[in-house]
Amino acid sequence: RRQPSRKGSMADMPRDLLGEIRRLEDIFTVDTPKLKAISDHFVSELAKGLSKEGGSIPMNPTWCMGFPDGHETGTFLALDMGGTNLRVCEIRLPEGKGEFDIIQSKYRMPEELKSGNAEELWNYIAECLAEFIAYHHEGEKLDKLPLGFTFSYPATQDYIDHGVLQRWTKGFDIDGVEGKDVVPPFEKAIAERGVPIKLTALINDTTGTLIASAYTDSEMRIGCIFGTGCNAAYMEHCGEIPKLEHMNLPKDQEIAINCEWGAFDNEHKILPRTQYDVIVDKDSPRPGQQAFEKMIAGLYLGELFRLVLVDLHENPNVKIFEGQDISVLKQAYSLDSSFLSDIENDPYENLQETHDKFLAELKLKCTKPELELVRRLAELIGTRSARLSACGVAAICKKKGYKTAHVGADGSVFNKYPHFKARGAQALKEILDWDKGRDGKPLVPGQGQDPVDIKPAEDGSGVGAALIAALTLKRVHGGNT
Ligand code: GLC
Repeated sequence: RRQPSRKGSMADMPRDLLGEIRRLEDIFTVDTPKLKAISDHFVSELAKGLSKEGGSIPMNPTWCMGFPDGHETGTFLALDMGGTNLRVCEIRLPEGKGEFDIIQSKYRMPEELKSGNAEELWNYIAECLAEFIAYHHEGEKLDKLPLGFTFSYPATQDYIDHGVLQRWTKGFDIDGVEGKDVVPPFEKAIAERGVPIKLTALINDTTGTLIASAYTDSEMRIGCIFGTGCNAAYMEHCGEIPKLEHMNLPKDQEIAINCEWGAFDNEHKILPRTQYDVIVDKDSPRPGQQAFEKMIAGLYLGELFRLVLVDLHENPNVKIFEGQDISVLKQAYSLDSSFLSDIENDPYENLQETHDKFLAELKLKCTKPELELVRRLAELIGTRSARLSACGVAAICKKKGYKTAHVGADGSVFNKYPHFKARGAQALKEILDWDKGRDGKPLVPGQGQDPVDIKPAEDGSGVGAALIAALTLKRVHGGNT
């Protein structure tokens, strides 16, 4: 395979394109001092979110009160309303530490639903659940099955089986849901279909990821999603959460906090936003929200890339795709992050795959210098995403005083985007000033010896949701809620 570093490839670059590459490098690169400054500011914003006054990061208490001990048992349903798919699982936690069986079905989440009306959404979800039960339990007489519902949007929870949607994120825009408890309309839709389910816990994907990963790894401290959206959850002591003071909970009681860190820096104090980030935000259904997420999450990476290319084409001083029809490229959100992944994965010295991709998908014929530019642009956007993401992880570790920790990560960007893990690990090393790994040898980031090691997570919205439902039932039966 060709080397990731492409020194020398800029040699025959026309001056206008070279100038643009240098400009893009300048605005998309986040150097070490900046990473550190962002992380430090992040630490104070995490604390602000826990204060009575609140800040821009919501820091939502989830009422998931501690880790599983491995002795949770029972049969549970899990429903995952992600951005692209709807997944229904049945999870059996048998006697015996850390084991489970799972069956699952995936349903497509129709694009129209994302901006349709609330009733259509709940009906569609209830139909999928009804179909799942009918298929897997045909003819059986069932007691109500407890359900863990992974609803991965910011929600205010006074109880674990309620949740008021604060605002839609990730491009969702369904009227009449924000500001309301999502559970009653959901329960109404399933009751109308006679589906034998009792919603036991409403959870966030990050909390599910944290709990599922902690089930099999006792060093697990943080659950992260780097996917369509980006967010994290961790365990906090109630004594550190002034906004819960009125509840008189024991100070050393732990509760999982869903940070909703996508909202970090909504007030634009520290993130190095480019003109392209400003457009992404302005043209989104919720301008002014999710400033951090819009710079790093999968939903936006392709769009940023597209906006840069359109801007360069429209700049009279830059010759790119000259004389070609860029109408396909002009369609908003026509490129997703896999477009960038593919470019970064192109193994050929002459970027043949990238060339063919532009031709097939965008009807654009690229010259060699243009190919070099788009490759560099993909690297810059992908690298910025990984490095900024690391600031959030570093901030939680700093806040909690973790010198070592495992972080469970899931999501399409983490799992599929080339070099994302290594770039994130490199940034963590820079922010936290490590020179040695856990083995005492000089640290090569991302090889498993990092003091704070970001690892692929267990299935949070399946197993994690089931475990949280199990923990909730255990707590209720123990009479501690
Ligand atoms: C968005 C959601 C958040 C979720 C994340 C990852 O940031 O607001 O709840 O955890 O995406 O899916």
